[in-house]
Amino acid sequence: MNAKKAAADKAVELIQSGMTIGLGTGSTAYWAIHRIAERMNEEGLRIEAVSSSKQSEELANQLGIPIIPFSEVKSIDITIDGADEVDRDTNLIKGGGGALLREKIIASNSNRFVVIVDESKMVPTLGKFPLPIEIVPFATELTIRRLEQLGCRPVIRMADQATFITDNGNWIIDCHFDEISNPGELGERIKTIPGVVEHGLFVRMANTVVVGHADGTTTVQ
Ligand code: A5P
Repeated sequence: MNAKKAAADKAVELIQSGMTIGLGTGSTAYWAIHRIAERMNEEGLRIEAVSSSKQSEELANQLGIPIIPFSEVKSIDITIDGADEVDRDTNLIKGGGGALLREKIIASNSNRFVVIVDESKMVPTLGKFPLPIEIVPFATELTIRRLEQLGCRPVIRMADQATFITDNGNWIIDCHFDEISNPGELGERIKTIPGVVEHGLFVRMANTVVVGHADGTTTVQ
C-alpha cells in the first residue's frame, strides 16, 4: 500500500461531522482530500473546509468538498497537511510545493495540526531538504544576500524555465543549509530580514504526526 495514503487515511479518521477542516497541499494531502470526499459519500460526513492552495481548492471542488472563504472562518478544528522533513521534536520543513505561507496561516489558526508523512520524511535533524523561504519579488538580490549570510546556499526556485510564483505572487528561495541545529533560532533570524514573507520552518506547531509505512501500517506520534 502507498505509505502516504496510509498516513492520510489514518488522519482523516479524526474528522467528525460539523468540523471545519484545513486542507493541506502536496502529494500526501492529496490522499487526505480524497479520503474526506469518500467519507462524505459513504458515511454522510458533513464538513466545511478552507484550503492552503489553489491546487487543493480545485481538487476539493472537483470532489464536492465545500470550501468556505477565510472571511467566514470562525475556527479551524483540524488541519491535515504533509511535510518535507520531520525531526525528533516534530519540528518541520514545509514548502516543497510552494504553499508554505498559507499552510502556516492555516496551521497556526487550527485547534489541532496533524502532519501526515511517509517514513522517508522522518530525520534526526532538519536541513537536508532545502528550506523554502517566500520573499517579495522586489530587490531580491539584497534579500538573497541576507539569506546567504545565515550560512546557506540560496537558489531561486524555477518552474518551466521561469521563476516560480506562489499563490501570493511572491518568489521562493530554496536555502541549502544541510543541517539546521536550532530551527527555532534560525526561524526567528530569517523573519527579521525585510523582504522575507515567511519561511518553511514549522517549529513546535505539529500536535500529531502520522507516519505511514510501505506495508500500509501507521505510527502516531
Ligand atoms: C507544500 O507547500 C508543502 O509544504 C507540502 O506539504 C510538502 O512539500 C509535502 O509534500 P508531499 O506530501 O508532496 O511530499
